[in-house]
Parts: sequence; C-alpha cells; structure tokens
Amino acid sequence: MTGGQDPMNVRTASDVADLEVKLLLTGLYEQYGLDFSQYSQQTLRRRLLAFAESHGLKTISLLQDKLLHYPEWLDRLLGVITMNSAPMFRAPSFLQCLRERVVPALKTDPYFRIWIAGCSTGEEAYLLAVLLEDEGVYDRCRIYATDVSEEDLGKAKRGAYSPMVMAEYGSIYAESGGRKRLAEYYTIGDDEAILSADLRRNIVFARHNLATDGSFNDFSFILCRNSLVQFQKPLRDRIFELIHGSLTFYGLLAVGNKESLRLSPFEKYYQEFDPEHRIYRKVGIRD
Ligand SMILES: C[S@@+](CC[C@H](N)C(=O)[O-])C[C@H]1O[C@@H](n2cnc3c(N)ncnc32)[C@H](O)[C@@H]1O
Repeated sequence: MTGGQDPMNVRTASDVADLEVKLLLTGLYEQYGLDFSQYSQQTLRRRLLAFAESHGLKTISLLQDKLLHYPEWLDRLLGVITMNSAPMFRAPSFLQCLRERVVPALKTDPYFRIWIAGCSTGEEAYLLAVLLEDEGVYDRCRIYATDVSEEDLGKAKRGAYSPMVMAEYGSIYAESGGRKRLAEYYTIGDDEAILSADLRRNIVFARHNLATDGSFNDFSFILCRNSLVQFQKPLRDRIFELIHGSLTFYGLLAVGNKESLRLSPFEKYYQEFDPEHRIYRKVGIRD
C-alpha cells in the first residue's frame, strides 16, 4: 500500500462521522466562505448530527448534499450551529451594574456608540435601549447589534418574542431597578410581545462575522457575551484583537460570565472595571 487508509482497517461509525464533519466544513468554506474550523469540533458534531436527524437525514453526508445544493438550508443550519439561544441579561445584578456603573461612565461623552457582537435574536439590544431610555441618554447613542446568522437578525429586526419570556425579562428588569414596567415598551398581539418600533430608532442590526470580518467603527462600550465560549483559542484571540481595535481608549468591554480576557494576549491592556460581571476597561494601546 502506498499511503491512504488501509481498507482492512475499517473506520468506526464515530470516525466516519468525524470525517463527514471535516468534509462538510470544507464544503461550507469553499461554497460560502464560512469558516467553522475554529469552533469546538465536538459541539459542532453533536449539533450537526442532531440537525440532520431532526430533518430525517441519517448522515452528515446527506446533510452536506442539501447544504451545497440548496442555500436556503444554510440559514436553518446556522441558527443551530452558532448557538442562537440568547440568555439575555439573566442576572438582575448585571443590569443593575450597567445602570449604576456603565451608563454613568458612558454619559461623560456627549455621544457614544455601543457594539453588541453576537446579538443573536436582539434581546440584549432592546433591553439596553430600554435601560438607556430610562436613564435619559438613549438619543445620545447608537447601538450596533451584529451577528453572523441572517435568521437571528431577521428575528431581531422584528422584535417579537414570546409573552412568557418577556414577562420573565420584565421581572429581571424590575429587580434591577427598572424605572417603568417593561410592558410599557411592548404590545401583545397574536400571542407575541412586540417591542415598540420607537425603541428600535437608535439600533442598527447588521450581519458581521467575527471570524472573518474586520472592525467597522470605534465604540465606547462593546458587549461580546456568550459567543467567545464556543470558539477555540486562536479565534478567540482574533476576536479580542478585533475588539481591541474597535474600542476607544478607556472604553468598556463586557464578556459572558464563563468568558475572560485572562490569558489572552490583550489582558495587559485592560483593567478590571467590574470583576463580578466580567466588565473590563481598556487602558492601553498595543504598540
Ligand atoms: C449564545 S448566543 C449569545 C447571544 C447574546 N450575546 C447573549 O449573551 O445572550 C451566541 C451568538 O453568537 C453568534 N455567532 C456565532 N458565531 C459567530 C460569528 N462567527 N460571528 C458573529 N456571530 C457569531 C450566534 O449566531 C449567536 O447568536
């Protein structure tokens, strides 16, 4: 034999699935320029298999056929493999910290930009808008909320959520010191809670891929929460570099509670602003 796999040494079903994932990722990259090579391969495999199975496809190769020939399958898949569940600002103490510490720091500038990187279906953006409105500074800012998934962005732009979920967010908002009732910002229709269009006036929802796209503005506050956790270190470091280049001097960065700047090459340029809520302040510029 001259190289290649020995036919006698047959792969296990699990090895074949790994091979199929590899081939699929190459296909997605070649066909659509989407690079998932830095995502956790184990998580990807689990999600791809679950997605294939839920569509009656027995193997990832069958799924590959759909994805390469029918682009409409791609958005369905993106929502699944990029973890589109948005825990929003689940801890009232995080919201309270935004209200009592972050907003006062931001409003020292007459105008400021905020970037929510990996905004999923938009809940973070709307809640932040409510909070800034409460504090009387919403018209002094613009929120850029970006994600790689067009499907999520479509939902974000609509701003319609389950009334039950909104009720839950309502109590988090109240507990965090909300000045009104969250329900004043939405109306209930057809079993959906629809956020007021007025709240969207300073939010820009747009597609941006953290794995391949560059910086598009400078921001006083960047939130990149619960997205970094799904990437391997080289991609996380790329994103930290992108964030560093997009954050103003003294700007603030919030990451998720399982994420940290520690051990990243950028750690030395930041001070802890609020360690409990993983908020950092940029205090240095890379030479
Ligand atoms: C768990 S959600 C986090 C949502 C929100 N930030 C939060 O904490 O509730 C992760 C988000 O990262 C997005 N994402 C995954 N890969 C991405 C990429 N390469 N570029 C931009 N967004 C990405 C997913 O589409 C998903 O909306």
